[in-house]
Amino acid sequence: MKTVLLKPHETDLAANVLKNSGVVAIPSETVYGLAANIFDNRAIQKIFTAKGRPSDNPLIVHIAEIDDVFPLVFELPYKAEILINNFWPAPLTLILSKSSLISDLISASLPTVAVRCPNNKIFREVIKKCGFPLAAPSANLSGSPSPTKFEHVFNDLNSCVDAIIDGGDCEFGIESTVIDVSKNTPILLRPGVITPEEITNLIGEIQIDKAVLSELSGSEKPNSPGLKYKHYAPKAKVVLVNARDENSQSYIDFVNENANEKGVFALCFDEDVPLLKIPSVSYGSKNNQTQQASKLFDSLRKCDELGAKIIYANSPKKTGVGLAVYNRMLRSASFNVIDL
Ligand code: TXA
Ligand code: MG
Repeated sequence: MKTVLLKPHETDLAANVLKNSGVVAIPSETVYGLAANIFDNRAIQKIFTAKGRPSDNPLIVHIAEIDDVFPLVFELPYKAEILINNFWPAPLTLILSKSSLISDLISASLPTVAVRCPNNKIFREVIKKCGFPLAAPSANLSGSPSPTKFEHVFNDLNSCVDAIIDGGDCEFGIESTVIDVSKNTPILLRPGVITPEEITNLIGEIQIDKAVLSELSGSEKPNSPGLKYKHYAPKAKVVLVNARDENSQSYIDFVNENANEKGVFALCFDEDVPLLKIPSVSYGSKNNQTQQASKLFDSLRKCDELGAKIIYANSPKKTGVGLAVYNRMLRSASFNVIDL
């Protein structure tokens, strides 16, 4: 398949492809999404094929205006309304009980649907020009680090999708916060740049799903199907290292002890780089969590490009946006963690 590369202003062309059962990779404020018409099962099927995505992993439905949520859902609980009114358009996805408009292909036969109103001019313009909502998972090959730059999408999906809009780098670089508001006590399924603290301030107590910070056993059924799959993994093996101390000295010492092994890389903070004796890729300053979020996926891909075989990653703080960064790293390391 020939993939057409589009400029950010070519949203008319993108909408035409989508109206004709095509799939288009579109930049959002979080990561690039691979979009298709929610009412066109043939197009939706193409998303699963292009990504190699298991069919039991449901898709997020993207809308251009807040009011577009109503036809998609059976009901809108008041806590959902509060979040919508305070945040949307935003990197915040709500799980709601679905209406009959949502096909089983999109919801993976669950009784719920994930909905998000993205805060990205290009994405919203494409939805508006289509006149229908767009289902869109991240525009990467299933299992690989999410795409935050045009090149990531191109490398993963060129010749597998109808078009890619080159919108440059994504603003946040980490996927949306996902919260299930279909239950009495909302459950945070995936942390993001909208933090649990911000959500709790508005709607009171929420639960953090067990799978956010720990591995589910084989017999446990995840609340979000995506949580059971291998995720964000570069080709190299990732080991997440929890340093003992604030200034990472224990991490530096640990990594330097492995200095003689070939292909060993450090994925670390800017401040660690001059102290390390092995090749390193930084994912931002230790004091800047939003920078860590925006650089993480690109840094994982960079390690592969540089020939890494084993990546020792210096763990971020688990508070605020750091919780989202830690959650992604934990999965990219397949829960392989060393506590120093
Ligand atoms: O920022 C984002 O959310 C990006 C951009 C493109 O919007 N999209 C994204 O989609 O990250 P995806 O498919 O890579 O991740 C969606 C996650 C998956 O873990 C999926 O299992 C979960 O949301 N999900 C979707 N529908 C769900 C549902 N009805 N119940 C529970 N989890 C759901
Ligand atoms: Mg994804």
